[in-house]
Amino acid sequence: MSGDNRPIGIFDSGIGGLTVLHAVGELLPAENLVYLGDTARVPYGTKSRETVIRYAMEDARFLLSKNVKAVVVACNSAAATSMETLRAKFDVPVIGVIEAGVEQAMNVSAQGKIGVIGTYATIGSGRYETLIRERGAVSVISQACPLFVPLAEEGWTDNGIAMDTAQIYLRPFMDGAVDSLILGCTHYPLLEKTIGAVCGESVTLVNSAKAVAMRLKETLTAGNLLCVSGEGKRAYYVTDSPERAHAVGSRFLGEEMGDNLQLVDLMEFAE
Ligand code: DGL
Repeated sequence: MSGDNRPIGIFDSGIGGLTVLHAVGELLPAENLVYLGDTARVPYGTKSRETVIRYAMEDARFLLSKNVKAVVVACNSAAATSMETLRAKFDVPVIGVIEAGVEQAMNVSAQGKIGVIGTYATIGSGRYETLIRERGAVSVISQACPLFVPLAEEGWTDNGIAMDTAQIYLRPFMDGAVDSLILGCTHYPLLEKTIGAVCGESVTLVNSAKAVAMRLKETLTAGNLLCVSGEGKRAYYVTDSPERAHAVGSRFLGEEMGDNLQLVDLMEFAE
C-alpha cells in the first residue's frame, strides 16, 4: 500500500527554504515534494505584515493548485505573520518553521536560556519570543541579522566578512547569555559553521529546517497522510530568474536541482 501519494507543498520567499526541502527529503524520502520560491518578491523579511500575509496566501493557493496534502511554510518571515490566516483559510495541515524550532530549542536547552536570530519581520513580530515564553523559558534574547541573507545567497558563508558580521550580530549571545540559539531564518543554516564558531561550544544551534521536517512527519502520521512507497519526485517553481535559482539553489539544497525547475506567475493566485 502506497498511502497518500499527493505531494507536500513547501514555500519560501526565495530559495532559502530549499534547506527545509532538503531536511524533509532526508526524513521522508518517499514523499513527492513541490517547492515554490517567490524569487520575484524576495525578501519578505523587510516588508510589512499585511504584505507578507498577502504573499503567503498567494504562495499557498499556488501549492494547493498542485493538489498538495500539506503546506510547509519554510519561511520564518511568513510563519511569523501568516500562520493563523493560512490555517483559517485552507483545510490541509499547515506546518510552520517557528513552532517546530521553538519545540526543538526547548528540548535541547539545558538552562532555558534561549536566543533567536532572524529577519526584521520575524524578530519584529515577537512570535518566537511569545512562544518561547509560553513554554516557560528562563530568558529569551532576540536579534535581527538581515545581512546574513545576502551573504548566504552570495555564498559568502565562511569568509572574513561573514565572520566579522557574525561577531557584531551575535554579541548579545556571548558570555553565557544563552545556551541555545535558534537559526530563525531559512538562509541561516548555510552560515551554521561561522555562527557556531562565533558562539562557541556552549551554545547549541537549533536548525529549524530539521525541526520542521520532524513536525511534518508527526502531522502526516497522525492524519494518516504518509506516503509509504512513493518515488520521492521533486518539482521546483520560482517566480523570477530560474537560471539564478538553479545556480544558487543547489547550494541550499545540498544537491543538484536537475531540470525540474519552472518559472511561474502568481498573478492568478491573487485575491
Ligand atoms: N527565507 C526568509 C526567512 O526565513 C529570509 C529571506 C526573506 O527575508 O524573505 O525569513
